[in-house]
Amino acid sequence: MLKLDRGEKSAHPLEGKLLRDLILKNRSYRRFNQKYPIDLSTLRELVDLARHSPSGSNLQPLKYILSNVPGKNADIFSCLSWAGYLKDWPGPVEGERPTGYIIILGDTTIRKSLGVDPGIAAQSIMLGAVERGLGGCIIASIDKEKLRKDLQIADRYEISLALALGRPIELVQLEEVGPDNDIKYWRDEYNVHHVPKRALDDIILDI
Ligand SMILES: Cc1cc2nc3c(=O)[nH]c(=O)nc-3n(C[C@H](O)[C@H](O)[C@H](O)COP(=O)(O)O)c2cc1C
Repeated sequence: MLKLDRGEKSAHPLEGKLLRDLILKNRSYRRFNQKYPIDLSTLRELVDLARHSPSGSNLQPLKYILSNVPGKNADIFSCLSWAGYLKDWPGPVEGERPTGYIIILGDTTIRKSLGVDPGIAAQSIMLGAVERGLGGCIIASIDKEKLRKDLQIADRYEISLALALGRPIELVQLEEVGPDNDIKYWRDEYNVHHVPKRALDDIILDI
């Protein structure tokens, strides 16, 4: 068992910049090398990270559907909407589509309202994906009725989020929101995806 040192001088054994690096690399990626497969065992490892994440009242209502095969992937893909701010881009073309998906469901027999559990689980999974050289996108814009029908998801499960995963092939650049306050992500002529983030001083309130 890890022994925590309460001393103030020595570095804490868990100290490091690993998490910041992972969080900065963990961008929303929407274009992938479709030749790069994802093992089912990898998807299971990622769900295992979510399993160990916090859950309101520890009720753990989340259930997961995994997909890493072309037919099921195509079914899921057809239910998702990509990058709403990129009006001229309908989503990744064949050859650049995700090779794995984790669908997050809520088991309504355990809890009716999922609260923030799906978001926490999603972030754990995405960070785990980045740690493994993968990446992807959290997608809430889902044709839920179609997905339920296509995958034959029973009514007791609420469809919450789809996590699209793969080996990213796109460059994503973070930048600070400008004076015009525009938070819309955009793509430049080299297809680099730019994501404006608000400045730290603009989000910490002086109250
Ligand atoms: C709850 C949630 C829902 C999202 N839904 C979608 C979606 O339906 N389609 C999509 O392309 N991106 C979706 N995204 C990705 C966001 O657009 C993305 O996080 C945002 O543009 C910032 O980029 P970043 O993740 O690289 O920081 C979603 C993100 C979150 C957290």
